[in-house]
Amino acid sequence: MGNEMRIVTKGSKDNFIFTDVVEVEGQETTILDITNIDAIRKMVSQKNIKSIVNCAAWTNVDGAEDPKKRELVELLNSKAPENLSIAMKEVGGLLVHISTDYVFGGDPYNIPCKEDQKGTPTGVYGLTKLHGEQKIQATGVDYLIFRTAWLYSEFGKNFVKTMINLTATKPQLKVVFDQVGTPTYAYDLAKAIYDIIENRKFEGNTGVYHYSNEGVCSWYDFTKMIAEIAGNTNCNIQPCHSDEFPSPVKRPSFSVLDKTKVKEVFGVKVPYWMDSLKICMNNLMKA
Ligand SMILES: NC(=O)c1ccc[n+]([C@@H]2O[C@H](COP(=O)([O-])OP(=O)(O)OC[C@H]3O[C@@H](n4cnc5c(N)ncnc54)[C@H](OP(=O)(O)O)[C@@H]3O)[C@@H](O)[C@H]2O)c1
Repeated sequence: MGNEMRIVTKGSKDNFIFTDVVEVEGQETTILDITNIDAIRKMVSQKNIKSIVNCAAWTNVDGAEDPKKRELVELLNSKAPENLSIAMKEVGGLLVHISTDYVFGGDPYNIPCKEDQKGTPTGVYGLTKLHGEQKIQATGVDYLIFRTAWLYSEFGKNFVKTMINLTATKPQLKVVFDQVGTPTYAYDLAKAIYDIIENRKFEGNTGVYHYSNEGVCSWYDFTKMIAEIAGNTNCNIQPCHSDEFPSPVKRPSFSVLDKTKVKEVFGVKVPYWMDSLKICMNNLMKA
């Protein structure tokens, strides 16, 4: 997500500074550990920061269930966003924060989730992300929280890249069909956020918003489409149930996000998931 923000902000009239906890190879990076509030305050003051877009988090869903990691997961997903909020509140700035469909899932439902639906996370990742949202709101900062889902891009490890590889190399593959949601090309979300910041559309419109691509599919359908676009026709892809892949955390079976609010308030145009998948895979295949 952070790498897509780098791309979409090129040419901005605003000055964006890209930070990470460690040096990123081949990218201009300013080191900042967002668990350290003094370091955040120092950077905000020295660089006269007016807005922060927080793309950092603990994102390993299964790994978050390790009791030894619990404190660190809470620190990154809950305390760190609070730190950023406090620092922005002190200067009257804006915090843009990315959250997740995994704040839902504990209650059975089969209609797209709206922003005011009660959070019912099923695991530590979702719970700590929900805590992060609540901590941000409690500081009284001006904030935009974008809950998104099934993120992929040209960067890092993600489902699309994994499935391009597996469907090219395995004769058969089983993929779950009983978890339904919507993939999101991180570039599309980054562009929407950039438009909102660049054009100051957030003024008077702070709050929680849902953003994924349009449409609905299962991980099975998603994989079939990835294989088709990649031309990996030799892999026999079969649907299966989630219990065939034991995991320490139960994933939401239906986590489609309702995007009515983000479209109405900001006039965001949300691309259909297959169209965005084709664009991303085209870029990947060109690289
Ligand atoms: N991926 C998904 O499917 C998905 C779905 C819904 C919502 N989200 C949310 O979307 C956001 C972006 O996700 P992503 O997939 O782009 O995540 P990601 O690839 O895991 O990136 C997270 C980044 O946070 C950095 N980070 C870790 N600890 C830090 C610290 N103390 N200070 C500063 N930076 C730190 C990581 O650095 P290192 O790599 O060096 O550790 C990494 O660059 C997250 O808030 C996530 O919860 C993701």
